[in-house]
Parts: sequence; C-alpha cells; structure tokens
Amino acid sequence: MENKVVLSGARPTGALHIGNYFGAVANWVKLQEEYDCYFFVADWHALTTGYEDTSTYKENITEVVMDLYAAGLDMNKCNIFLQSAIKSHAELYLLFSMITPLSWLERCPTYKDMLTQLSEKNIKTHGFLGYPCLQAADILIYQADFVPVGEDQLPHIELTREIARRFNFLYEEVFPEPAPLLTKSKVLPGLDGRKMSKSYGNTIALKDRSEVLTKKVMSMITDPNRIKRTDPGNPEICSVFAYHKIFNEAEVEEIQSSCKAGSIGCVQCKKNLAAKIAKFLEPIHERRAYIEANPKLVDEILEKGNKVAILRAEETLKAARKAMKIDW
Ligand code: TRP
Ligand code: SF4
Repeated sequence: MENKVVLSGARPTGALHIGNYFGAVANWVKLQEEYDCYFFVADWHALTTGYEDTSTYKENITEVVMDLYAAGLDMNKCNIFLQSAIKSHAELYLLFSMITPLSWLERCPTYKDMLTQLSEKNIKTHGFLGYPCLQAADILIYQADFVPVGEDQLPHIELTREIARRFNFLYEEVFPEPAPLLTKSKVLPGLDGRKMSKSYGNTIALKDRSEVLTKKVMSMITDPNRIKRTDPGNPEICSVFAYHKIFNEAEVEEIQSSCKAGSIGCVQCKKNLAAKIAKFLEPIHERRAYIEANPKLVDEILEKGNKVAILRAEETLKAARKAMKIDW
C-alpha cells in the first residue's frame, strides 16, 4: 500500500528565519520520516506579490534550498522541488481557473488582508487574485492527503477542497480532498516584538552566526518598564523570555523568578539566550557550511525532486484532461 502523501510549499523570500523554522520547516523534517513527502519552493507564488523586482529571484531560490537542507530535509527521505520546473501546475491552474467562481477568490480573507497590508504594491492583478487557485493546483496535482500549514493558510486549503469538489461534481471523481495538518507552532515574536517577518526586518535568520546573532539578541525589546537592573520585570511581556521558553527550557523557571525579583540584568539574560540559540543552531550551521562548499548539491536536490514530481503531476493531469474530455 502506498504511503500517505504530504505536500507543502515555501515562498522563496530569501534566507529562512527561525520563525519559518519553528512555524513550518521543523515539522517538515519530522514528517519526512513518516510520509511520502513533497516539499517545494513556490517561486511562481513569489511573483504574485513580487513581479516588479525579480533581481533576487534566483538567489532566493538557492537560499531556500540551502536552508531546507541545513534544517535537516534529506533528499533521500523526501522530494524537494521547484514549482516552476513542473509546468503541469500551470496547466491545472488554467483548468481550475475556468471552474472557480470569482466570488470564491474575492471573499478569501488573505486576499483582502494583503491588499490592505501591501497597499504600496500594485497587486490588483489577475495573478494575485488567482493565487489560491494556483495553490489548489499545487496541492491537487499530487493528490496530497495532508497539507501542513499555519493557521493563516487554512482558507486556502478550504478553497482547494471546494475546487476539488466542484471538479469532481462537474466531470469525474479525480481529486481526493486534502486535509490540513495544522502546525502547532511555538510562536516566536520578532526582535521588535511584532510578528517575525522579513518585511519588518525583525528576523533572526537560520544562517545567522554568533556575531550577528548576538547583536540581534542584544537589540531585542524587553519589558519597557525595567529601567534599572534592580527593577522587578514582567517576563510575560518580554520577547527575550518568549525565546528562553523555546531555546532554554532548563532555565525558564529560574529566569522567570529572578526577572520578577529584579535580581538578573537584561544584558546578562540576553547574553545567556544568545549562547543558547547559537548552540541550537550549531548543527544547522554545519550542514549549511557543507552545502555552501558544495553548491552543486542544490541542483542535485532539485533535479531529483523535480523528476519525481513531474511523473506524479503528469499522471494526475492526464486523468483531469480525460475527465474533462479534452484529451485529444
Ligand atoms: N501560500 C503559501 C504561503 O504563502 C505557500 C504555498 C504555495 C503552499 N502553494 C502551496 C503551501 C501549497 C502549501 C501547499 O506560505
Ligand atoms: Fe526580559 Fe530577561 Fe530582562 Fe526579564 S531579565 S525583562 S526576561 S530580558
């Protein structure tokens, strides 16, 4: 019997940060042990909001593949591929675009959100509106059983299921409905306390090494009411403390009480954290150094993944064409 299929994608926004790691990639590393996994770099998706400036397009793809490798994805345990190398995603996207009511796309909460958030960008485009339809093609073309995503992506999975149902109803039963695998992620705030995001410039990159790392940790926002070292602090409103919970479980309670008692300084607390993060990232940095020294490995990883993905995608597409009676 075939293993259950897991599929997920990451936009190539450049080097991955530790928010991406704990929010998604760490989970992928676990899933590769158990499932038939397809993980891809969603480079066409990056165009939906970034079509105006493609100058870093290629290097961003390389960065992400290197980071996925560094994080522990193993090309012998999962397939890592590039969306734009699998042209059949585009054909299925076109077919889906014929059957997807505009209202489904217009009412998508991520669509409305991003239009307001990215108001400085001209994203009133066909491609941006149709982005969830492309995502549906990404998922359904592999007949995925599970799609690990964060909460923000749930509406897209629901839309994917609706498109599958509509196709199956109009033509023939071709697409199984995928289920989301909600990633119960530990939430890491950014350096400034807001959500960690490349566009806010408040990230710690997976590849940040000790000097940069320490500098970033030292710049983190702490309890703003602590002015003197002896002022009692409130760790619950401090980002540094949120990080200790993840990277330094052994000392969490001690830090909590000494912060509250005002018996530990923020500088000391941050230095401690920086050391713990550095320790955590050590094996990731080792793998990153290896792939940087062997850049051909990036091509090898993608070539292998693309090959497997193309075969599986083509098979589904054939069935879709046949169901629609457009397979002459
Ligand atoms: N939309 C996802 C994001 O912005 C990326 C993505 C594209 C994806 N296609 C996918 C995720 C398919 C899961 C499955 O993060
Ligand atoms: Fe935050 Fe640590 Fe300072 Fe307390 S002592 S406010 S936990 S940095």
